Amino acid sequence: MPQLLTILQKAGEFLHEKGSLSPRLDAEVLLADVLGMQRIELYANYDRPLVKKELDAYRQVIARRGKLEPVAYITGKKEFYSREFSVNSQVLIPRPDTELLVEKVLGYLESFTIPNPDILDLCTGSGAIGITLALEVEGASVTATDISPGALSVARENAEGLAVKVDFIEGDLYANLTKKFDVIVANPPYIASKEWETLEPNVKLYEPQLALVGGEDGLAFYRRIIEESPKYLKDAGAMFLEIGETQAAEVAKIAENVGVFAKAMVAKDLAGKNRVVFLKRQRGN
Ligand SMILES: C[S@@+](CC[C@H](N)C(=O)[O-])C[C@H]1O[C@@H](n2cnc3c(N)ncnc32)[C@H](O)[C@@H]1O
Repeated sequence: MPQLLTILQKAGEFLHEKGSLSPRLDAEVLLADVLGMQRIELYANYDRPLVKKELDAYRQVIARRGKLEPVAYITGKKEFYSREFSVNSQVLIPRPDTELLVEKVLGYLESFTIPNPDILDLCTGSGAIGITLALEVEGASVTATDISPGALSVARENAEGLAVKVDFIEGDLYANLTKKFDVIVANPPYIASKEWETLEPNVKLYEPQLALVGGEDGLAFYRRIIEESPKYLKDAGAMFLEIGETQAAEVAKIAENVGVFAKAMVAKDLAGKNRVVFLKRQRGN
């Protein structure tokens, strides 16, 4: 019977040939998942033989990864803000970059000490942002919306699994909302439609186009989210938007034209790329 280390090496070489950018890591994550182990436990079990049933299951998942299906869709899970979220092909896989958006909201709520804030997460997908905020902000009431019923059912499952209450509403952005919020947060689709073809195959072939494409110039959702926000954002409320690295100036301009916000502020991610736009509604506007 082949041993774990040999299998890992072979799987890593195969995934490298198939174009994975992290072949050994993928091979390890998938093997740990098949064996029901933590990845770190593999290292203490290099000489463990794999039985036929395990080998067959591993071959199947390696074949899927060989076609560049994202590891998270194969295992059905992805870590976000140190918690495990279920994912499937109905939802965008939450990205580490989006943790910055969550951090900015948390920092704001801490420095402005808003008691029991009402928070709205537009375009919630797997629920990663809204659920994390509901878990991190004491007394928060979180509402999360998405137009995709498939995404909302994943988000509901995640909220249930993490034992937190979030009010999920199906609809087109603000449709079906009747109250105002202290904070609106969104990671909307923001890829320009002409860029779709240029995306990596693991994204283009597997992640939902509905979650990624934001109209011809990628700004369609920012226009609607910002322009319609005065009806849903409380006096002195704040909005946090994840953006593509080249979109800060255009998003700031959209906000300026609406005329109710202070000057837009932009936060960069760890790679130094513009990643979050912060808009503060001015009292009385
Ligand atoms: C970029 S994904 C973000 C998912 C999640 N918030 C995250 O950060 O991982 C965008 C989400 O917007 C949703 N969406 C697309 N069009 C929408 C619309 N018109 N109204 C509400 N949600 C929409 C998609 O279904 C998708 O779940």
